[in-house]
Amino acid sequence: GKVAVLMGGNAAEREVSLRSGLAVTQAFIAQGIHAVSEDVTQLEDLQRIAKEYDRAFIALHGRWGEDGVVQAILDDLGLPYTGSGMAASAVAMDKLRTKWMWMGAGLPTPGFVWVSDLMPLNIEEFDLPFPVIVKPSHEGSSIGMRKVYDKENLVEAVTYAQEFDSEILIEQWVTGREYTCAVLNNKALPLIELKTTHDFYDFDAKYKSNDTQYICPCDLDNETENELQELVLQAFHVLGSKGWGRVDLMLDDDDQAWLIELNSVPGMTDHSLVPMAAKADGMDFENLVVEILKSTL
Ligand code: DAL
Ligand code: MG
Repeated sequence: GKVAVLMGGNAAEREVSLRSGLAVTQAFIAQGIHAVSEDVTQLEDLQRIAKEYDRAFIALHGRWGEDGVVQAILDDLGLPYTGSGMAASAVAMDKLRTKWMWMGAGLPTPGFVWVSDLMPLNIEEFDLPFPVIVKPSHEGSSIGMRKVYDKENLVEAVTYAQEFDSEILIEQWVTGREYTCAVLNNKALPLIELKTTHDFYDFDAKYKSNDTQYICPCDLDNETENELQELVLQAFHVLGSKGWGRVDLMLDDDDQAWLIELNSVPGMTDHSLVPMAAKADGMDFENLVVEILKSTL
C-alpha cells in the first residue's frame, strides 16, 4: 500500500515535524515502500490525501496533529494511522490533564500549581518550593518553558508561557536524574539518560546543541530499569495510548521516580530519542518506522 507521511502543520513545532517527517519518508523509500511526505495544515489536505493513500504515518507534533484533531478526522475519513487515537492524543497533549489522570491512577508525578483564566496566579499564596518549571499545558519541545528560582521571576515566566497557552502549570522541579523511555507496540525500550549543560533540557539542547549527553544503555541496574519500564507502560496505558510514544520521567536523589509527560508523536529527527532507544535495542531507523507503521494494522 501507499503511505502518507503527515508532517508540517501550523503548530509551534512545525520545523521539528518537517525534520521528523522527511526522515521517516526517506526511511520508507530506502526500503522500497511507497511513501510520500504530505505537508498538511487543514481539513482539505486530509480529505485529499485520504483518497490517495492506504495508511498514514503521523509525524505531526503539537496542536492539531498530536492533540487528537487529525486523528478524529482520519477516523472519519477511514484512513488508518499510526499511534494513539483521538482521546488519548488529546489528553497527552495536555500536561495538566495528563497529571490529573496519572494522579487518579496513583502514579507519581511532581506537585504543581494550575494557572488559567479562571484561576489566575496568586503570588501571595504560592507555596511550592523553588526551583519550579513553568510550562504551557499544550506545547512540546520545551516551547514557552522557563525554569524559575525565586518568586521575583515567577510572574514574568507565567506571562511568557501565557503567550503560548491560556493554561499553564507551575511544576515542582525534581532534582536528580532525567530519563526518557520509548514505548513501541506495548513494549518499553531501554531508558535513555539525558544530561544537559543547559539550565534544563530546552529547545536548543533538544535540537541544536551537541553538548547534550545521551546515555543509552543507561547505568541503572537491571532491576531499577525494569521497574521504571513497568511504570512507563502503566503511564502509557492509563492515558489509553496506543502504538508508540515516549514518556519523560525523573529519578530524584532518593531514587523515587516521577512521571513528567507523555509524547504521543515523539520526534523522529536525527537528534531524537526514540530512534536512539530503538538502536540500543538492536533496531535501526528503517526497521523502527516499519514497526511503528504496524500499529495501523
Ligand atoms: N515534542 C517533541 C517532538 C518530542 O517529544 O520529541
Ligand atoms: Mg512533550
